[in-house]
Amino acid sequence: MEVRVPLKVILSGEHAVVYGHPAVAAAVDMWTEVSAEPHDTTVISTRYFGFEAGIRVKRTEDGRWTVASEDLLDEFSYLVEAVKEAERMGADPDAKIEIRCEGPPGSGLGTSASVICGILVALLGLSGVEPDRDEIRRAVRNVEKRVQGRASWTDATVVTLGGVVKVKGDDVERLGEGIPGHVLVCYSGTPGPTARALRLVERLREEIPAIVDGVMEEIGNVAEGVSEAVIEGDASKMGSLMNVNHGLLSALGVSTRELDEIVNVARNCGALGAKVTGAGTGGCAIALFEDRETAERCAATLEAIGYEAWVVRTVSDGYRT
Ligand code: MEV
Repeated sequence: MEVRVPLKVILSGEHAVVYGHPAVAAAVDMWTEVSAEPHDTTVISTRYFGFEAGIRVKRTEDGRWTVASEDLLDEFSYLVEAVKEAERMGADPDAKIEIRCEGPPGSGLGTSASVICGILVALLGLSGVEPDRDEIRRAVRNVEKRVQGRASWTDATVVTLGGVVKVKGDDVERLGEGIPGHVLVCYSGTPGPTARALRLVERLREEIPAIVDGVMEEIGNVAEGVSEAVIEGDASKMGSLMNVNHGLLSALGVSTRELDEIVNVARNCGALGAKVTGAGTGGCAIALFEDRETAERCAATLEAIGYEAWVVRTVSDGYRT
């Protein structure tokens, strides 16, 4: 059984979406590939972009889960949780599961949601269970919530349904198949685990609640603007809003020196806008360009100073079997 699941970029609204404000995200053509075949126990091996070690998780005869390096089990507990969720939904968990992900772990590109989705669909498919996309979407979010403590519907929705999506609380609205302009994704070189970034923002909010709530409110307004810009096909407006969004995410403390550098390089290359994407504190930034050639040139500039960059296309559907 083989499954391909897209990764995603958040165009606007990360963090604030966890507190009930809107976010806009799109599925992109970077993929997680999951294959599963029957086996005498559960063995998961993974390879993420830029993460040479790979992860190998195994269930022993007495039901314990082991991982090649114990200190990694926490960070990759979503692999085990995804298997348990699939079992709850009726799948036989005994399988050899192989995962290849084109994004680095903790990249802000929805790698965990994408991998969770792939494991669920592959294991369920292998057992002849065929839940609909909405059941998969709910299951992905359940796992994310268990692992992260908090999770909006954003990543789970985009990787299962694809397209460009606006999320607010429990509401999901499909805005279309693509976005105006061309998106460059650039990895800062260090992971930014979502749970850690969420805790950082939570602590800041405990310390200065009125200020943080004000920033979140403004991020919500920006995301509403981005949603309009997607519908109107207005790349210039979208870029300006992304720049404001980056400033607001910096105010929440989730940008880094490298992410700021990527954003500045992209703007100097002629980006309409650039910002952190996903949880931040590491991971990726995105930039929006009017034309693909300029985006490609900027990717080369970023690579010349040591970053990894991709010019991506949006993907109109979610996981494929
Ligand atoms: C993670 O991709 C984005 C966050 O807003 C968390 C979430 O929406 O669950 C930081």
